[in-house]
Amino acid sequence: MKLTLTILPGDGIGPEVTAEALKALQAIGQRFGHLIETQSALIGGAALDALGIPLPDETIKTCENSDAVLLGAIGGPRWDRNPPALKPESGLLGIRKALGNYANLRPARIFTALKGASTLKPEVIEGVDLLIVRELTGGIYFGKPRGFAGGGATDGNLHDSAHKVIEVKDAVVGFNTEIYSVGEIERIVRMAIELARSRRRRICSVDKANVLESSQLWRHVAARLAATCPDVQFTFMYVDNCAMQLVANPAQFDVIVTSNLFGDILSDEAAMLTGSIGMLPSACVGGRVPLFEPVHGSAPDIAGQNLANPLAAILSVAMMFQYTFHLSEEARTLERAVESVLAEGFRTRDLLSSSVPGITRVSCNEMGDRVVNGIMQS
Ligand code: IPM
Ligand code: MG
Repeated sequence: MKLTLTILPGDGIGPEVTAEALKALQAIGQRFGHLIETQSALIGGAALDALGIPLPDETIKTCENSDAVLLGAIGGPRWDRNPPALKPESGLLGIRKALGNYANLRPARIFTALKGASTLKPEVIEGVDLLIVRELTGGIYFGKPRGFAGGGATDGNLHDSAHKVIEVKDAVVGFNTEIYSVGEIERIVRMAIELARSRRRRICSVDKANVLESSQLWRHVAARLAATCPDVQFTFMYVDNCAMQLVANPAQFDVIVTSNLFGDILSDEAAMLTGSIGMLPSACVGGRVPLFEPVHGSAPDIAGQNLANPLAAILSVAMMFQYTFHLSEEARTLERAVESVLAEGFRTRDLLSSSVPGITRVSCNEMGDRVVNGIMQS
């Protein structure tokens, strides 16, 4: 197979973890006889520094002309004071939207070797294997009206004042809109149903229907689809309860389907079940070209020091093989290589609470090298 991939290294630890993921990718290519061509493009703070915008058209074009995209991370304190449209984050949101990827798949499962790394008791995380299906191109992240308004703004004239560009420093109110259409809810719930069918056939739809109209519609539409799928068991949960259940009894979940904002929050929480957010891969799918990215951020505090955990980026490549190229053997080989490196006791800094006998601390690129060895020896 010939695959063309766009790499968006981004900011902070992004370039370091994507470099390791690329090594693992090329090792899989060699081992299974795939020709993998890669090209890279600018996004986020890196694009702001070079070109003054977080998502250049050239980057969108490069992504559109590839089979898949791998993104590192974006953001950092240097750009935090920029106005919203010139923050690195708007580059990330923009590329998800430009590629039409409305579904973000965020799995969390426990690696046997990392049971001790979780802050939860081993018996609580035993058997955790869940998939968060987060809506990605709608909801409060994109809803309009949004903005800042001045002192005259009341509920009645918010729409008018939203058109005036007011900076945060002059604002008296800030506002956003949570909005979902039937079509947006249907397509994400359908995607969750398909995914549940290849898993344990259970879906928990998470909302805040006791307070929000957008959630009431979400629940209504999800329940209507649930009634047409007797082979999948549906449950409904309020997001506050779900946040609690995720730490109280996380093994009860199979697929969780939820909105953009709730999915953002719950997936960080789910990540910690595994011991480190540095372990969690993700896939943004449903559009023209899928995009894969680790769930973690750009970690500016450890950037450029070869300390980052590249496993989430490497596991994102495994998701790419699984979900996009339907090459399960390649995906499993990558995952097994990660499992065996962990089983042999190698850990990046984030996975070490204190020095434990039999555990060796490794740098970002040593971890990558060890995964590559694992792939080549399998
Ligand atoms: C994530 C991140 C992003 C999001 C930020 C960086 C815009 O938190 O991918 O979870 O909120 O989607
Ligand atoms: Mg997040």
